[in-house]
Amino acid sequence: MTILIVGGAGYIGSHVNQLLHRSGYSTLVIDNLCRGHREHAQWGKFIQGDIGNSEFLDHIFTTNKIETVMHFAAFAYVGESISSPSVYYENNVSKTLILLDAMVRHHVNNFIFSSSCATFGNAEYTPIDELHPQHPINPYGYTKLVVEQILKDYDKAYGLKYGIFRYFNASGADPDRHIGEWHDPETHLIPLILDVAAGIRPKIDVFGNDYDTSDGTCIRDYIHVCDLAEAHKRGMEQLCNTGISDNYNLGSGKGYSIREILHVAQKITKCSIKIHHVARREGDPAELVGSSEKAKRILGWTPQYSLEDSITTAWRWHQKTFQHSPLKRVG
Ligand SMILES: NC(=O)c1ccc[n+]([C@@H]2O[C@H](COP(=O)([O-])OP(=O)(O)OC[C@H]3O[C@@H](n4cnc5c(N)ncnc54)[C@H](O)[C@@H]3O)[C@@H](O)[C@H]2O)c1
Repeated sequence: MTILIVGGAGYIGSHVNQLLHRSGYSTLVIDNLCRGHREHAQWGKFIQGDIGNSEFLDHIFTTNKIETVMHFAAFAYVGESISSPSVYYENNVSKTLILLDAMVRHHVNNFIFSSSCATFGNAEYTPIDELHPQHPINPYGYTKLVVEQILKDYDKAYGLKYGIFRYFNASGADPDRHIGEWHDPETHLIPLILDVAAGIRPKIDVFGNDYDTSDGTCIRDYIHVCDLAEAHKRGMEQLCNTGISDNYNLGSGKGYSIREILHVAQKITKCSIKIHHVARREGDPAELVGSSEKAKRILGWTPQYSLEDSITTAWRWHQKTFQHSPLKRVG
């Protein structure tokens, strides 16, 4: 039996693929490479293709014995979702429907979905648990929430079982430095900070210093990508063993302001990082910190990596990958 990893050439999907492979699972990655990297799909089989193409999906499901689908393929930039909502609803919602309908046609019943803390919008309390109201404040968050609702409806109507994972901020890299965080364009804080440390970018823009937080900058919860991978493995095993659909928030339970991240990054890289304060960005909540108590209780999962580990592993991968070819990074 094979696990289909959709979007497995991207940041989080490639780390999940690596862990599943090391744990003895057979995997097949499909990815259209619009935002991923072929060299990150290093384990199992790889086939290039788009999940919006139902004939392609029929071919995948008829020629492989797929037991579970893990779905990482989406566009995930808040700002871009505000300026181009149509692109986001098409890629994240319409194409996910095409994928789910192919699963129903081919009687594949287990689905793991990458959702997001963006489904919660502004925090009414922290840490945010699974019972927190979901009121997204940007189209990206809505695309994820709509898919969550579709999954509930598909479970009732077609018996499709799901595990929904709502990540807070994924961070860090494979400690063996085979893969890491490489978005293009990059908008995530830690890789941007490391670009500045490496001299690839001159400075980092900090959006807003007047939030109602201890130092005025936004607070986020950073969870190591290898911890996320472990949660996916456990969540998939739980789903296949019990056949019970469920949802889990995956965060570390601890928030850091942008200034605190900068401080830790300067300590680890031993480089000074120039910042530039700019206005708040539309669609950014002040504070997002997640509770993982449910994942701990049900999946026996506890994050193993600290923020320092995230920045250290990210820095080691960044140096290996971009030190001699900085144009790869911003080209
Ligand atoms: N990175 C984070 O901090 C974070 C936080 C919360 C949720 N998420 C969610 O996790 C998932 C993975 O995020 P990531 O950071 O690894 O993103 P990523 O961009 O690195 O990976 C997404 C992959 O999906 C592929 N893809 C996109 N549309 C596709 C399509 N129509 N057909 C086939 N392949 C397609 C891309 O080429 C890319 O390889 C996304 O769904 C994202 O919304 C990420």
